Amino acid sequence: MSLYQATASAPVNIACIKYWGKRDTALILPTNSSLSVTLDQDHLRSTTTSRADASFTKDTLWLNGKEEVIKPGGRTAVCIEELRRLRKVAEDANSNEPKISSFKLHIASYNNFPTAAGLASSAAGFAALVSSIAQLYSLDKVLSASQLSLIARQGSGSACRSLMGGFVAWQAGQLADGSDSLAVQVAPREHWPEMHALICVVSDAKKGTSSTSGMQRTVETSPLLQHRINHVVPQRMKDITAAIQARDFPTFARLTMQDSNQFHAVCLDTEPPIFYMNDVSRALVQLVVEYNRAAGEVRAAYTYDAGPNCVIYVLQKHVKEIANLVVRFFPLAETFKDPFALFASEKIGELAVPEGFNSAVVASFPAGSVKGLIHTRVGDGPRKITDDAVHLLDAQGQPK
Ligand code: DP6
Repeated sequence: MSLYQATASAPVNIACIKYWGKRDTALILPTNSSLSVTLDQDHLRSTTTSRADASFTKDTLWLNGKEEVIKPGGRTAVCIEELRRLRKVAEDANSNEPKISSFKLHIASYNNFPTAAGLASSAAGFAALVSSIAQLYSLDKVLSASQLSLIARQGSGSACRSLMGGFVAWQAGQLADGSDSLAVQVAPREHWPEMHALICVVSDAKKGTSSTSGMQRTVETSPLLQHRINHVVPQRMKDITAAIQARDFPTFARLTMQDSNQFHAVCLDTEPPIFYMNDVSRALVQLVVEYNRAAGEVRAAYTYDAGPNCVIYVLQKHVKEIANLVVRFFPLAETFKDPFALFASEKIGELAVPEGFNSAVVASFPAGSVKGLIHTRVGDGPRKITDDAVHLLDAQGQPK
């Protein structure tokens, strides 16, 4: 008997131009376009195994080993049903295709990073789920990554941008049915492989206001959001795309910081206001700003999502300098993993500060305020995993 199973991994993405607000909450259609950098799955990834079998009695999903309820009509169910419908179309068109669309699915997903850390886990998670089922159903051979992004978008908006590597735009689109609201690749990772990222993990506690409910409150109450949607984001999308194409880091960095600032400004403009950044987040802004000032050029860009963690985009040649500064001012609770062996013979945090850097500018916090530091870089899109050791379901179709 054949085993109908596929395993995919998918990356995290961190937006430079932020998605915040829906014009259609059921279809997950955004109020504005957005743009992100896909991060390397060698470091951060979601892995999902999907299996179809005649013996399964219901679609079942396990997240990090724990069964999650698949709510009828909910986001996960919508993604599964859409993929199943497309599989059925392929089966009806070709009688040689095994009729696996009628089988229930067992799906096991695993994140190799804390799920509630605000590290875009839902984006990687839905991208891996859609990729693995698409592979299981052989839809990946007939549908482009952009077409699959239409499905992942309905799992979580930002997930559509994790369907491809490099630099990715989610075009808001205009159609009521959402068929033009999809992700497109602006440039592959090979275009600008020097783009690295440092994730400063400020807190891995579950966040207070979810993105989903927070952004709708902003849509309903913030006049500043209307200005952002109509007069700011359209030009910024053009400008950052041009900056990426020209590998113009200072322009890319300035736009990224401006857009993070404006996203948190519309959160403050929401009634009641939403606060995602905390005092440690703001001290990290001061550190990046002072680093750029002392360097006499923009070498690093901070950006914050719906939580206090700071992601710093920086070119490879400057990672060591800024990583050292972060640890010098915010001694970590965890050991720095150093995947690129930057500090082979030296100790992170103990190198001298760059010339002209004014230490008095950065507010001081107790050790452990920044728990961990993750060094990664721009990465590729979802991968097909064939290594048997990685599959997440055992012979009975239960999570391993
Ligand atoms: C701040 O994609 O998590 O990270 O579509 O409701 O699932 P839903 O929201 P989600 O929102 C992410 C918002 C953000 C900015 C971004 O990634 O663009």
